[in-house]
Amino acid sequence: MTVPSAVQLILFGAAGDLAHRKLIPALYDLHREGHLPAEVDVVGVDLQEMDPEAFVEFSCDAADSLGRFFPRDADADNWAAFAERLSYVQGDATEAETYARLGEHLKEVGPEGNRPHRVFYLSVAPFLVEPIVTNLAEAGLLDDVERDRVVVEKPFGRDAESARALDRVLLDTADESQVYRIDHYLGKETVQNLLAFRFANVLFEPIWDARYVDHVQITVSETVGVEHRGGYYEKAGALRDMVQNHLLQLLCLVAMEPPVAFKADEVRNKKVDVLRAVRPITRDRVHEVAVRGQYGEGFLHGARVPGYREEPKVATRSATETYAALKLEVDNWRWHGVPFYLRTGKRMPRRVSEISVQFRPVPHRAFPSGADEAFQPNRLVLRIQPDEGIVLRFQAKRPGPQMLLQPVAMRFDYDEAFDTPPDAYETLLLDAIRGDATLFMRADQVEAAWQVVDPVLEAWAASPPAEFPNYAAGTWGPAAADRLLARDGRSWFEPLPADPVPAGTAPEAIADAHPEDAGG
Ligand code: BG6
Repeated sequence: MTVPSAVQLILFGAAGDLAHRKLIPALYDLHREGHLPAEVDVVGVDLQEMDPEAFVEFSCDAADSLGRFFPRDADADNWAAFAERLSYVQGDATEAETYARLGEHLKEVGPEGNRPHRVFYLSVAPFLVEPIVTNLAEAGLLDDVERDRVVVEKPFGRDAESARALDRVLLDTADESQVYRIDHYLGKETVQNLLAFRFANVLFEPIWDARYVDHVQITVSETVGVEHRGGYYEKAGALRDMVQNHLLQLLCLVAMEPPVAFKADEVRNKKVDVLRAVRPITRDRVHEVAVRGQYGEGFLHGARVPGYREEPKVATRSATETYAALKLEVDNWRWHGVPFYLRTGKRMPRRVSEISVQFRPVPHRAFPSGADEAFQPNRLVLRIQPDEGIVLRFQAKRPGPQMLLQPVAMRFDYDEAFDTPPDAYETLLLDAIRGDATLFMRADQVEAAWQVVDPVLEAWAASPPAEFPNYAAGTWGPAAADRLLARDGRSWFEPLPADPVPAGTAPEAIADAHPEDAGG
């Protein structure tokens, strides 16, 4: 897919955190790498008073702050060319008048005689999506189905019903092909690589099912707390903020069937099939398969950090979960009986996104007694971030006169094989510009994902937790999450260190470092 010759990117919420941290740096990087056409305009829209120069300064600061670019010095020429394309429209996104001015502005700054493609990026609070889209449509700014697009940030709704309602508004005003629902995890190279890994290699697919896989664990842990996002997070919680979107998307990529072709709808059809196959969680089973947690004060990297209820804009008796764990089962032929354990939390000891596929033990151990004390079934670890890579753990014979088995690891490191990958937002912005929706969410996917978590949300809302906070900042979550797996005779894997099994490590030491792996 090619990049159109003229593009206008309109950032709603341009003075906000996402624009500063991700969107503007991503656009600048795309410009530096020559991925944007010469005829490009980046138009910020926000309620905040800012003159055009201040927006350029805000953007320069954003690009600088990433640490990879230095527009103020080394990259000054590149920056000057980009800065010329920046402009700002101050306005209230709920008022029609803003859109009349925006329409005029877009005509004014755009190229003459070459109607640009327009990407309206809605990096705004969820309640603003509806008025923005309605106003854009009424101002005629979404009329060109081929060239006008809207990118909507998550969370898309608060549950299946509100997501459906939002979709009705969007589809009343635009065509589905114009709507790009973003989940930035899908733009991560390592997440996209799951498809390449599974479907461009013959080795793993034949064993990628219930006959060989014992269970799958998906961990997305963060060391950060809720930071300055208390206002948003209080209404979201970990299940809405992370599980409904990022973690369920990872589940889809691990569990989906091979697509017929790498086309947007082919891939999305297979993913939605996984969500539809997830066994519905009935209200009476929520306590068996779902665990929630909230961090209290604790220590992280040697420093004291406050509990969630002490964070700004958080209620002193908040019932919002900052940790969620789920056990899901996918009721289809491939995955019958294989549990998928998902967990995510803030203020955990390490920042890690990792998928562990735990294979079954060999059916018969032919080795002499004592040889396989350190035996561990094979495990494949797909590391999304950081230390991006893939690790396969298997057994080897320990050198020496006796037959002694020792777990070892084969490792693929992105760093060694490739240059620094683009940021997820770069990939997704470029895809939206080119009109490739493969990595974006379709309405039915979003709804199916809500249907998975809705019963849990309802049950949790109906019975506020008595025991919050129930894990200390800097720990791996509440004890109930350990019991969730212990009931099945399993335990959470501690995410791999950078070098999972350093050469020469004795089996005893491996068992110590990974007690969950010891034994059969
Ligand atoms: C966002 C969530 O979608 O993802 C944040 O709203 C979270 O709460 C973030 O911190 C994590 O993204 P990443 O790319 O840092 O793993």
